[in-house]
Order: sequence, then C-alpha cells, then structure tokens
Amino acid sequence: MNVLVVGATGTLGRQVARKAIEAGHAVTCLVRNPTKAAFLSEWGAKLKVGSLTQPDTLAPALEGMEVAIDCATVRPSSSLSLKEVDWDGKVALINAARAAEIKQYMFFSVLRAEEFPTVPLMNFKHHIENYLKQSLVPYTIFRPCGFMQGLIGQYAIPILEDQLVWTTKPPTAISYIDTLDAAAIAVKAIGCEGALRQTLPLAGSKAWTPSEVIALCEKLSNKTAKIATMPIGILRGARNIANFFQWTWNIGDRLAFAEVLASGKPMHAEMQGVYELLDIDPEELTTLEGYLLEYFERILKKLRDTNYKDPKKMTRF
Ligand SMILES: NC(=O)c1ccc[n+]([C@@H]2O[C@H](COP(=O)([O-])OP(=O)(O)OC[C@H]3O[C@@H](n4cnc5c(N)ncnc54)[C@H](OP(=O)(O)O)[C@@H]3O)[C@@H](O)[C@H]2O)c1
Repeated sequence: MNVLVVGATGTLGRQVARKAIEAGHAVTCLVRNPTKAAFLSEWGAKLKVGSLTQPDTLAPALEGMEVAIDCATVRPSSSLSLKEVDWDGKVALINAARAAEIKQYMFFSVLRAEEFPTVPLMNFKHHIENYLKQSLVPYTIFRPCGFMQGLIGQYAIPILEDQLVWTTKPPTAISYIDTLDAAAIAVKAIGCEGALRQTLPLAGSKAWTPSEVIALCEKLSNKTAKIATMPIGILRGARNIANFFQWTWNIGDRLAFAEVLASGKPMHAEMQGVYELLDIDPEELTTLEGYLLEYFERILKKLRDTNYKDPKKMTRF
C-alpha cells in the first residue's frame, strides 16, 4: 500500500518506515529536514518536505496515499510548543487525511491518556484520540506505555558514567516495549480490517518499577547506581517555575509528565487480543532483560576494545 509516515526521523518512526518498506509497502516520509532524513531515502523511502505546523505542506504529502502513520511529537529542544505540534499540527493532519480520503490513519497516543488531564501531553493525546474518532477517518490508535529506548538515557548511561539516576516517588511500574516490536505490530495492522476503528495497547510482557530497571542495569554493567529520589511535590514546584518563563514551556510540559511516573498505578496492558488480531508471536518480542543485555554487552565490549568514551552514541539504531 502507499504509506505516508510522519515523524519518520524519530525513535519509533524510523522503525515504522523501515518495517513498512521491508513488508513491501511504498513508503513516503514527511520530513522537516531532508539532509537529516537522508538515511530514509537510502532505505528506500521517498521524502516529502513539510511540517505539521505548515498545513499547506500536508495535502501534497498525502496525495496518492492510502495509509497515514503519525509517529510525530514535539522535540524537547524544539522552539515549537507542544500545543503547536501535538494539537494544532495533528488536527491539521487529520483534516488533511479526511480530505485526501485516507483509508487508514494510525496515531500513537499514550496508555491511560484520559486519566491525566493536567499533564499537557496526555491531555492532547486524549483529545486527539477523540478528534480522530469523530473525524470519520478510519483510524487505528495505538497506546504505548513507554519505549525501552528511553531507558538508555534515563538509566543505563548515567549508571555507566557514575552520574546520578533520578527516580520519582511513589514509583510507577511501566511495561516498556522495544520500538522495533511496536513498529512491527503497527506495520502488521496496515490494511487489516479488524484493526480499523480500534484502540489498541502497546505494552511489554512485564511492568518494571524504576528500582527493578536500575537493579537490572547494575547487574548487567557490574556497577552501582547513585540513586536520587525526587518527591513529586518538588517536581510540581519546578514545573510551576519553568512554566513562568515562556521559553521553558516545553521543559514545564515535560516535568508535568512526572505526575504520570509518580502516579503509583502501573502502566500495563494485556496484549493477548492484539497478538491474536495481528497474528503476532509474543515469543518473538524483545524482553527488557534481552534488550538491556544486548546494549550493555555491546557497549562494554566497545569500551574494552577501543577505549571508546561516549556511551550516548550506543543506542540501537
Ligand atoms: N517515547 C516514549 O516512551 C513514548 C511513550 C508513549 C507514546 N509515545 C508516542 O510515540 C510517538 C513516537 O515517539 P518517539 O519517542 O519516537 O518520538 P521522537 O523520537 O521524539 O520523534 C519525534 C518525531 O516527530 C517529528 N516532528 C517533530 N515536530 C514535527 C513537526 N512540526 N512536523 C513534522 N514532524 C515533526 C520529529 O522530526 P525531526 O527529526 O524533524 O525533529 C521526529 O521525527 C509519539 O507520538 C509519542 O508521543 C512515545
């Protein structure tokens, strides 16, 4: 099928583009910076230059497409606000998809988005889910809990570099999923009748608390973590200060996410229905133990062999 991927330079989006190409789909990627997206052309995707915040670029990108997969979200370092990308931009993309008579529109939300109306990202996700459902565009909504790739910067690298590892109190267990598996599941849903007008969770097999993730990283790296626990009250205060200055709004929005991490209620979902619907073998999915084992083995070998100093560059591509 003709598939447009938006956000294809991102952690999840690049895997979606790659898996869709491997599955034989004709993939076009809407990208803001074609130089940065050159690897997507090398993989076999066509590039169209545009942005969610430039609505006139969306209709040309959707021309001739049957499926649109939205993997975009605002970058923490972006000069754009969360609202400009994750609300205004997404409304514009859904409207353009409707006008282009797209047969399937995939959106990546977040599990339990409706439970956190005070967390801007969750609030926008929840309202975009509703907007999409009411738009008459045939949709498939995926609700990930969290991606394993995020754990490298959050825990693995600070532990390797003897830096402080920050956790929240109370802790929340999260069922992390590898973006490769999330992408494989999404690509299986392309053109699947049973996935239309469905909201599907994307979760790993087990929910992990921060202490469990840290203990696993300590075991695999043979190092002891320096742990600092941030009470939720302090994070709320930091968010209020950040929000006071307009230029730190994205930081404030990110700090608000700590409300989710400190909710104490596990971010976990039963996946059996998704596996059956999309014919997925759960045995083939990556476990967190397997993912982190591969990461640490690779980086520790590299450090031994070459005295390489930058573990930040060692996340899986
Ligand atoms: N990370 C998680 O643990 C997690 C958990 C639950 C749900 N999700 C959701 O899963 C999706 C993918 O997340 P991710 O972590 O893979 O994101 P990511 O790595 O931060 O990538 C974001 C992507 O969005 C693109 N983008 C940003 N602003 C844009 C704009 N104005 N127009 C077009 N594209 C734009 C970026 O392009 P540039 O390269 O040009 O900046 C990049 O390709 C998101 O919807 C996210 O909310 C993520």
